[in-house]
Amino acid sequence: MRTGTGPIGFVRSLLQILGGKPQVPPSLEANQALALILKRRSVRHFASTEIPDEVLAAILEAGRLAPSTVNLQTWSFALFTPATWHATFGRHLPFGGARAIVVMADTHRVRLALDAFPHSPLVEHTIAVMNASLAAMNMNIAAEALGVSSVMLSETGRTGLLDAGYLVEKLCLPGGVLPLMTFILGYPRGPHPPMPPKLPQDQICFEGRYREPAAGLMGGWLAQMKAGYKASHPFSSFDAQLRVYGKKIVQAEATLWAMVSDGRGPES
Ligand SMILES: Cc1cc2nc3c(=O)[nH]c(=O)nc-3n(C[C@H](O)[C@H](O)[C@H](O)COP(=O)(O)O)c2cc1C
Repeated sequence: MRTGTGPIGFVRSLLQILGGKPQVPPSLEANQALALILKRRSVRHFASTEIPDEVLAAILEAGRLAPSTVNLQTWSFALFTPATWHATFGRHLPFGGARAIVVMADTHRVRLALDAFPHSPLVEHTIAVMNASLAAMNMNIAAEALGVSSVMLSETGRTGLLDAGYLVEKLCLPGGVLPLMTFILGYPRGPHPPMPPKLPQDQICFEGRYREPAAGLMGGWLAQMKAGYKASHPFSSFDAQLRVYGKKIVQAEATLWAMVSDGRGPES
C-alpha cells in the first residue's frame, strides 16, 4: 500500500477503498453464514420500517446465549424504541434507527450470587467488557441474518462509553454496571456502504514471534482512512474528528474516575 498526498494520493486512496473486498477461498464462497459475516458493514442510514418484536427477541436471544468467562454473563441490555429513546434522552434516536440497545458490562448481577473475583480493573473493565462485547457481536450477526443492519456507537448521541457518566445517571445504573456502546438497529436505507480500509490478513497474523508491519502499510492505511472520511464528510476531516474523540476520552476518563472515587462507579 502506498501513502499518497495531494489530490492524486486522495484519489488513489479512494480507489483502494472501493477496490477492497473480502478474500475468500473460492471453495468457500457459497457458504452463506460466512458470506453474511463478511458482508456486514456499519450502516448509518435507516428506513422508517419498524423491527417486529419477534425479530428483536431473536436478536436479543443471540446476545443472551453468547459465550462468556466462566459463563458469568456479565452483560445487560437496555432496550429502546424511538419514542422511549426520545423520552429518556430528549433527542431522536441516532441515524433514524428503528431500535436501540445500550450494551453494558455488568458485574453487579453476578456478584449477587458469586463474588469470587476482585473488584479490579481487569475484572470490571476487561473481563466484563470483553464478555459484553462478544454478546453485542452475536446480536450484530443475528441481526444481519434477519436482514437488520446496525451500527455500534461509542460516542454519537451521548449514549456510549464516552458518555458513561451521563448514562449511569439517566439509566439509574448501580455500581458494577458500565455502559459500553449503543447498538442502533434498523432496515437499511440506500446503498450498502463500501468496506472501509481493512489491514491485510498476512499483516495482522503471525506465527511464533510478533512481526512488525511491512514498510508503508500503516501510512497507506491512514491515508485511506483520511480520504474515506473526507469523501463522506466534505466539511470536516479525520484529524478534526480524532481531536473531538481525544477530548471526549479525556473527559470520560475523568468522569469515570470521579464516579469510582465517589463510590458510584463501575468498581464500587
Ligand atoms: C465499540 C464500537 C464503537 C463504535 N462507535 C462508533 C461511533 O461512535 N460512531 C460511528 O459512526 N461509528 C462507530 N463505530 C463503527 C465503526 O466506525 C466501524 O465499525 C468501523 O469503521 C469499521 O467499519 P465496519 O463496521 O463497516 O467494518 C463503532 C464500532 C465499535 C465496534
